[in-house]
Amino acid sequence: MSRPRRWVIAAVAFTATLGAAFVGVPGAPATAEPVPTVQEPAPLPPLGWNSWNTFYCNINETMIRQTADAMVSSGMAAAGYQYVVVDDCWMQDRRDSSGNLQARTDRFPSGMKALGDYIHSKGLKFGIYHAPREKTCNQYFSNLPGTSSYGYETRDANLFASWGVDFVKHDWCDPRDNAQTQAAVFKKFQDALKATGRPIVLSINPNSAHSNTAPTYSGWGAVSDMWRTSEDLSASWSTGCAPSNDCFVGITEALDIIEPMREWTKPGQYNDPDMLMVGVRNALTATENRSHQSMWAMFSAPLIAGNDLRNMSADVRAILTNRDVLALDQDPLVRQADRVRDDGNLEVWAKPLADGSVAVALLNRGTGTQRITTNLAQVGLRSGTHTYKELWTGATGTTTGDISAQVVSHGVALYRVTPSGGTPSSPPVSSAPSSTGPDPAGACSATYTVTGQWNGGFQGEVKVTAGSRPVSSWQVSWSFPNGQTITQAWNARVTSSGSAITATNVDYNGTLGSGASASFGFLGAGSPVPTSLNLTCTAT
Ligand code: GAL
Repeated sequence: MSRPRRWVIAAVAFTATLGAAFVGVPGAPATAEPVPTVQEPAPLPPLGWNSWNTFYCNINETMIRQTADAMVSSGMAAAGYQYVVVDDCWMQDRRDSSGNLQARTDRFPSGMKALGDYIHSKGLKFGIYHAPREKTCNQYFSNLPGTSSYGYETRDANLFASWGVDFVKHDWCDPRDNAQTQAAVFKKFQDALKATGRPIVLSINPNSAHSNTAPTYSGWGAVSDMWRTSEDLSASWSTGCAPSNDCFVGITEALDIIEPMREWTKPGQYNDPDMLMVGVRNALTATENRSHQSMWAMFSAPLIAGNDLRNMSADVRAILTNRDVLALDQDPLVRQADRVRDDGNLEVWAKPLADGSVAVALLNRGTGTQRITTNLAQVGLRSGTHTYKELWTGATGTTTGDISAQVVSHGVALYRVTPSGGTPSSPPVSSAPSSTGPDPAGACSATYTVTGQWNGGFQGEVKVTAGSRPVSSWQVSWSFPNGQTITQAWNARVTSSGSAITATNVDYNGTLGSGASASFGFLGAGSPVPTSLNLTCTAT
């Protein structure tokens, strides 16, 4: 028997069509940032399906094969979904006499290798569930013997690789230990997976049967490819669970938990607000399903469907396979959206995209239809003429100022806003001096541009360019003139000491060839908005 689940079903009707009204002022487009390249098992957020949310322990090889078939026939595979993940309850509760994990023969009589072969024959990838500490969650809550990887890391990793496993969900499910100890245990298994030589995505969950350690520790990306940010997601708009507690969260609690973890998501490393509840037992309304899919895509979160793909309504299929929304999730810049405005239940989220566009979500968490309005500067776009598309209705148009929509209760208006040419009204506001780094490291220069500003805050971008020799690592430093501070940064490691700021490159910036550039960005607080900065770039 698995542990009891709490369900709060939000019964909210889709009451109005989203509408958008745009008014504005003249200006200029934003510039696209360079796309980072990474060597990771999952350079973009994994897309797939997992058995748990609908089936719990009621799984067997027939329904997993049928699901793989349905992933292809429904168009999910063509839209990009590829991992078919068998969650808890596939294994026997004891290892065999040689110490190997064994599948339950009543449920998987053909064995896991045969199942993996079948999934691969469909052009899909094979995922499996495991536990690092002592027991799987089902074993823990059902008081069964345990089959964790603890002490068996190499044996289990090799067995999985021999079965053709491409993805492991590693689930802590134990009340013991702090985040640092958890990370060390997860790392042992990550090392064993890497040693197999097979690229296997490691998806970890440090939070089950445990206080919510995920938000308290920034190092999960060093021990996994994706990490759960909370206890399980419930198919509900809100459960009222407090972020640090061991309780199931709804959509809105998941947003609040992941928001401060924004900088941890980057290419190859993902905050994971849990598998999708879109279409699971029809618990969420169509409006809520769209908001759920929208916000997970805004986060560049892994999108692991949890519904029964074999019996999927056209509505649910359309939500899961909306190409415009998936493109936000899979955008190569891999940026988790920032909540740029929070008016209680009315929120504005913005996510920069690789082509210089910005994805904008106007989210109504409350009751009743409400107008939500933002503007180009608030979402990090420079002034100018911009085209937009609302990604659920397909409505298109242009704006030079506001972005505004009537949004139904629990609904979202989701835009891709794209600069549409024109000459910038003001050039990049600062071009800073360059400095020469020590030979043979080469030299670099850096320029600073204000890419957005609002009351009490601003967004800046720094472009680092290598001189006549390649630069493999660099450091940019400056001081803010009026006590402004940095609140968030991406694509560089940024530290501050008083007003002095230092940004150093991160591995995924790679080596800059002679004359090549990489950019990093930051959000600043304070005023006035610094329009120029004295940057010092050093190749290190
Ligand atoms: C939980 C986990 C769920 C599911 C379940 C299996 O800890 O969060 O996603 O894997 O265990 O028992």
